[in-house]
Amino acid sequence: MKIGLFGFGCVGQGLWKVLHETKGVKADIVRICIKHPDKQRPLAPDYFTTNPSDILDDPEINIIVELIDDADAAYDIVSSALKKGKAVVSANKKMIAHRLPELYALQNETGAPFLYEGSSCASIPIIRNLEEYYDNDLLTSVEGIFNGTTNVILTKIFEDNISFSEALKYAQKHGFAESDPSLDVDGFDAKFKLCILLLHAFGVFVAPEEVLNIGIGRLNDFDIQYAKSRGQVIKLIARCYREGGRIVGYCIPRFVPVGHHYATVRNEYNAVTLESAFSEHQTFLGKGAGDKATGSAVLSDISALRYQYKYEYRKFIQNGTSFDTSEAFLRIYVRHQYEGQVKDADFISIEERYAAADTRYWIGHISLQKLQKTSWLNDHGVSVVELAAS
Ligand code: HSE
Repeated sequence: MKIGLFGFGCVGQGLWKVLHETKGVKADIVRICIKHPDKQRPLAPDYFTTNPSDILDDPEINIIVELIDDADAAYDIVSSALKKGKAVVSANKKMIAHRLPELYALQNETGAPFLYEGSSCASIPIIRNLEEYYDNDLLTSVEGIFNGTTNVILTKIFEDNISFSEALKYAQKHGFAESDPSLDVDGFDAKFKLCILLLHAFGVFVAPEEVLNIGIGRLNDFDIQYAKSRGQVIKLIARCYREGGRIVGYCIPRFVPVGHHYATVRNEYNAVTLESAFSEHQTFLGKGAGDKATGSAVLSDISALRYQYKYEYRKFIQNGTSFDTSEAFLRIYVRHQYEGQVKDADFISIEERYAAADTRYWIGHISLQKLQKTSWLNDHGVSVVELAAS
């Protein structure tokens, strides 16, 4: 296998390391396309090029690995490579989540395989599991901690009393955060992974714009103390489930009791819990971010190409379900600043109201669609955390 690699950042270098430490996979990275030729690199200069066609048009190169940051440029590389009949591996969750319908069509048209295990929860082999083991309609729910950076931040805030910004710096220094960290903090990254898993779990194409994501950026000391005083932590949870013929999905911070298994998922670790009709709950735990963790998932895809592995998207082909949040309801805690900021009429019921001089919170039931459309959701001074059903 001759690999042409696009991008030599954190994950590209992680792949280089894991590939060279793995004797059993006979694959060589022969050329690397980069954007900035003047950057200091740990390899000989003749590995590198800035011209994509040096890789895409090289008949010797049969596998393209795309690990760049820019989602639009990544799509151009992946689609050109597939059209040229080359096998492609990518870990670009933003690009994949936004372009799944086109990428699915391209695979059908060209017959070329496109694998992207590294895009979702890094080292946890979740996509292939959903494709192969859970290849039936028994699965009822997929949820978990899908973002390493926010989990580092929440772990450090709750366990070490480290400030939000210090914890984010730590995640950036260790190569966990996106180059635009608001994608992590505001729940977009976890949502992109959710959109990818929605296709492999339930066979539905869901555009990221359809899915509500609430991040952790507006949580404050009051919310942290509220959780701690009740024996809880907060985790950012992405969730999708089937109810009848409807598939629901969203990504919202959640209060989690300290005894719950999610509370033990620390730092850059991720967890994915699957629920199916007969096996009930099953949780996968593993590193969800970082150079080698993501590199190992990319390597596993490269290795799977040896036996012509492809995703079959069987659930999409057999599908009788659709993404529909019209009947989904949540029990939430909404902290806000002043009277009238959050509207009574938006709630189905409110079970608790607390008001002090500069902080208030309500606990109540609300429809997911209503929450998605409320005027106050993105107000400064408003935070939303999901609670377990009462
Ligand atoms: N920024 C991502 C995270 C990287 O923190 O989970 C892995 O996808």
